[in-house]
Amino acid sequence: MKVLLLNGPNLNMLGKREPGIYGKKTLKDIEQDIANLGKSHNIEVSCFQSNSEGELVTEIQKAGDVFDGIIFNAGAYTHTSIAIRDAISSIKIPVIEVHLSNISNREPFRHISYISPVCAGSISGLGEESYVLALFWFVRLNQKKISE
Ligand code: DQA
Repeated sequence: MKVLLLNGPNLNMLGKREPGIYGKKTLKDIEQDIANLGKSHNIEVSCFQSNSEGELVTEIQKAGDVFDGIIFNAGAYTHTSIAIRDAISSIKIPVIEVHLSNISNREPFRHISYISPVCAGSISGLGEESYVLALFWFVRLNQKKISE
């Protein structure tokens, strides 16, 4: 199984960016952890980050033909982007929305996610573990597929 770990704007700043909210780990640390975890469970994880909405849309469109699913932290585009929502709707593979922080207990503008209605599920507020739990959803999906 192949999974894309996709990160949106400002997530390249993890480690330096508001560590009290987003933690001290860099995006590279998280990507490595998730890729290693994937490897030990028969899942090949590829990573991509962009600060640009258009690039994220293009990556989602391409991923629909190449990957079995996407773990996606859309960053601030979560709360603004109809284009990203439409890109998710246009592909058939499951997308799991993740957030490091708990978007429901932060500023009101973060309470709305344009993408959660078109994602298979959402995990928010568990720091790096949000990504880990999303990966485990794919691990279970893979195990079920193999045993079918
Ligand atoms: C975030 C939450 C968003 O509101 C914010 O704009 C981010 C990070 C998170 O992972 O907690 O950039 O997606």
